[in-house]
Amino acid sequence: MLQLGHGLVAERDGAVLGTTMWWLFGDSHASLGMVIVAKAAQGMGVGRKLMEGAIAAIGDRSILLNATDEGLNLYRSLGFDVTGTVYQHQGAPFDVPIAQLIPNERVAPMKAGELADISRLDRAATGLDRSAVIDYLFDAAQGVVLNRDGEQAGYALFRRFGRGYSIGPTLAPDIGGARALISHWLGSNTGMFCRLDVPEDSGLSAWLDELGLPCVGRVTRMCRGTPPPANSISANPTGQALTGARPTGDTIRAWSLINQALG
Ligand SMILES: CC(C)(COP(=O)(O)OP(=O)(O)OC[C@H]1O[C@@H](n2cnc3c(N)ncnc32)[C@H](O)[C@@H]1OP(=O)(O)O)[C@@H](O)C(=O)NCCC(=O)NCCS
Repeated sequence: MLQLGHGLVAERDGAVLGTTMWWLFGDSHASLGMVIVAKAAQGMGVGRKLMEGAIAAIGDRSILLNATDEGLNLYRSLGFDVTGTVYQHQGAPFDVPIAQLIPNERVAPMKAGELADISRLDRAATGLDRSAVIDYLFDAAQGVVLNRDGEQAGYALFRRFGRGYSIGPTLAPDIGGARALISHWLGSNTGMFCRLDVPEDSGLSAWLDELGLPCVGRVTRMCRGTPPPANSISANPTGQALTGARPTGDTIRAWSLINQALG
């Protein structure tokens, strides 16, 4: 996070009281996070000062963030609007069913030469130029690619994070593809603590609950300015059982986040 982003700290007598960080995605957008004020210094305007400093530094770009309930009022008062909800799921499941694949579909390890394709898919799904983050994750994470008819249709990354591992981002054209990718990582790491942050409109939440990754938290997606031209769900948002062929379409979207700060 430090390597890829910019940040400000609030200090008093040389001691750090608060932080905020942001990550630039091309000229149009930025993501903001790590907004933390020490308990003893809360309610004294430090958070607001940090946010004003970050907004000034980010300039004309639209800003995305995922807000805790504590941060909502502050962000609203600074011009952020609510755009959705993200659920945090985590657990150490032992009994993960094998992914159901459709004909001509497979989940394969990501190969060294696939970075450019991975970046292209990320941009198509999120509407953001996150190439610097994807470059970094390409080396720091393990990846699998969803292939359909020999073409890359999506991918999911898996990396050390917090108490265990994180599965994200997961990008796929539909919920069946997203489940296939996520099942791969859960199934090959049974009993390991894994976390996913999934948008509410992904429809994945109930499925993750059933697998043994309960929802343990929720944050509010917000944007100050213009939301990126990201794709919306293309198929089966209800998370029904998979039978027969899935609609493929040419859209791709994000089904799990990199993390809450980076989106
Ligand atoms: C959210 C947080 C950063 C706010 O920092 P702060 O220095 O306490 O905030 P400020 O004193 O600058 O207050 C700014 C506004 O936030 C709101 N606010 C502050 N603390 C709040 C709380 N606990 N609950 C709800 N709203 C709160 C108020 O509306 C306040 O508006 P005002 O200036 O008109 O009174 C701080 O409470 C914190 O670190 N919380 C824990 C970590 C966290 O949740 N961070 C946000 C991640 S998205």
